[in-house]
Amino acid sequence: PDPGWSIDADVVVVGSGVAGLTAALRCAAAGRRTVVVTKARLDDGSTRWAQGGIAAALGDGDTPEQHRDDTLVAGAGLCDEAAVRTLVTEGPDAVHRLIGSGARFDTAPGTDRIALTREGGHHRSRIAHAGGDATGAEITRALVQAVRAAGLRTIEHALVLDLLTDAEGRTSGVTLHVMGEGQHDGVGAVHAPAVVLATGGMGQVFSATTNPAVSTGDGVALALRAGAEISDLEFVQFHPTVLYLGPDAEGQQPLISEAVRGEGAHLVDADGIRFMAGQHELAELAPRDIVAKAIMRRAQEQGVDHMYLDARHFGAEMWERRFPTILAACRAHGIDPVTRPIPVAPAAHYASGGVRTDLHGRTTVPGLYACGEVACTGVHGANRLASNSLLEGLVFAERIAADIAARPAPDASATTTAPAPEAPLSHSPDADPAPEALPAALRLLAPEARTAVQQIMTTGAGVLRSARSLARAGAELDLLHREAESSGEGPAGGPAGGPAAGKAPEPGVEAWEATNLLCVARVLVAAAYRREETRGCHWREDHPDRDDTLWRRHFRITLDTDRA
Ligand code: SIN
Repeated sequence: PDPGWSIDADVVVVGSGVAGLTAALRCAAAGRRTVVVTKARLDDGSTRWAQGGIAAALGDGDTPEQHRDDTLVAGAGLCDEAAVRTLVTEGPDAVHRLIGSGARFDTAPGTDRIALTREGGHHRSRIAHAGGDATGAEITRALVQAVRAAGLRTIEHALVLDLLTDAEGRTSGVTLHVMGEGQHDGVGAVHAPAVVLATGGMGQVFSATTNPAVSTGDGVALALRAGAEISDLEFVQFHPTVLYLGPDAEGQQPLISEAVRGEGAHLVDADGIRFMAGQHELAELAPRDIVAKAIMRRAQEQGVDHMYLDARHFGAEMWERRFPTILAACRAHGIDPVTRPIPVAPAAHYASGGVRTDLHGRTTVPGLYACGEVACTGVHGANRLASNSLLEGLVFAERIAADIAARPAPDASATTTAPAPEAPLSHSPDADPAPEALPAALRLLAPEARTAVQQIMTTGAGVLRSARSLARAGAELDLLHREAESSGEGPAGGPAGGPAAGKAPEPGVEAWEATNLLCVARVLVAAAYRREETRGCHWREDHPDRDDTLWRRHFRITLDTDRA
C-alpha cells in the first residue's frame, strides 16, 4: 500500500524489547535522530516476560571463558566462536551499563553484590535476576523510562510492513501501518538510511508458546521479503518446563523458569520418580534441549502428556520471595506449588536462528541491522544457553549503535544517502553452502489462517519431527499459500477447514501477521526437512543422531520473489 504520511530520521529501530530500546538509546546518545516503532505499546513484547535473568560472568571465580565454554556446549557444534567470544567478554560491562540505565538487580542478602543463580547448561551461578523472577519486567521498566527521559520519538501500535531501499539496494526506511490515535495513522513511512530490526521472535507460529501474541515473526518475514539472508531457522527452542494446561491449550502459556530448577526443584514422572539423574552429568540442569527430550521420552513411555516439577521443599516463604510471578501464575490456574508438584511440558520458546548478521549486527542488505531474537548472530548455534538472550540483545544492540555512530553523520536534508557499511558480512563458516532461494509467499492471508498455520506447525514441526511430518506440514502450508493466491475466486477447502479461502482479506494487522507467520513457517519447515540429523533443539525421529561429517553447517535461505 502507498504511504499516506512520512517522517525522516537517521535511524529507525523496529521493536521495543531489550535489544531495540538499547540500540535506540545508544544511537540517540551518539546524536542520531532516532525513531522507535513498535507493534503494541513500548513495554509489550517478549523481554517483559523474561523470568530467569541475564547471564554474564559477574561472580567470583567466574570468567568469560567459562561462560564461553558452556555456551559452545549448549550450541551443539554450530555456534560462531567469534560471536560467542564477543558476547561473553563484552557481556559483564554491558550489564553494568544496563544498571547505569536504571535497571535494579536483586542483591545477595546483606550485601550490594548482584545475586546470581544457576540455570540449565551453566556450570556456575551466573544469572542475574530482578524482582525474584521478574527480570524482564524490570529491564523493560528501566529502559522504557530511559527512552522517555531521553525524549526519543516513539510510534506505538505500528506494524512495520516492508523495507524501503534506494536504486542501489541500500536501506532507505520502512513502511508501517499504525493503528490508532495521534498524529500518524494508517499506512505511512519512516525514511532513514539505517533500520534496526529488533522485532523479537516467532513463537506464535506454534499453537502453544511462552511468547506473547505479538511474536509473529514480522522481522524475519520483512527481512526475507527484502532479500536478506536467514539462517538456522530450524533450531526452535522448546522450553522444557511450561505450565501444562491441557492438550488443547493455545497461545501464550505460563513459563516455569529454569531458575526454579537452578534453586533445586526436581523433575518427576507420573509415579513421582526423578528421571534426570543418569541422563546427563548436570541432571535437571542439563542444557534445555536435553531436558525437553527427556521429558517427552518419559511422557511417551508412561503414555501421559506431561511430567511434574516438584519444588514443595522450597516452602511458602521461599516461593513468595524468590518466585512471586510463577507462584501467582500457578495459583491463578488452581495449582499451588507449595503443596503439589507443578504439571509441566515443553512449549515453543525461542528462535535460535533468524536474520543472519555479522559481529556488528549488519545483515546482508546494506543499512539493515538486526539484534535480539530476530537476529542470527551465531551465538546460539543449535540451542541457546539459558539466559543468554537478554545478554545477546544488549551486547549486539550496543555494537549496532557503535557501527551506526561510526558512519558519517547523515545530512539532515539528505537522510537516505548515507553510505552503506563497508565491511562485508562475514561470520558464516566457509563450509556453509550458498544460500538457498525459496519461492516467496507474498500474498495477504486471511487472519483466521493464523490458527491453521499454528496447528500445522505444532503437528508437523514441533519438538519431535520426521521427514514425513515435515513433508506433510510443508504441503499443507503450500496449500494455504495457494489458497491465498486464489482468494477472491471462491472457496477452496484447506487442511484445517480452508480458512484462507474465499474473498481477498482486508489489509490489516491480523492479516499481515498471519501472512508473516506463513512466510516464516514455510522457511522453518524447509530448513528442518533438509537437516537430516538430530542436533541441539532440532530433534528428528528418523535421524536420531548428530552427524558432524555432513551437517556441521548452517542453512542460509533467501526468498525468490519471482518464484511464488
Ligand atoms: C527461564 O527463565 O527459564 C527462561 C530463560 C531463558 O529463556 O533464557
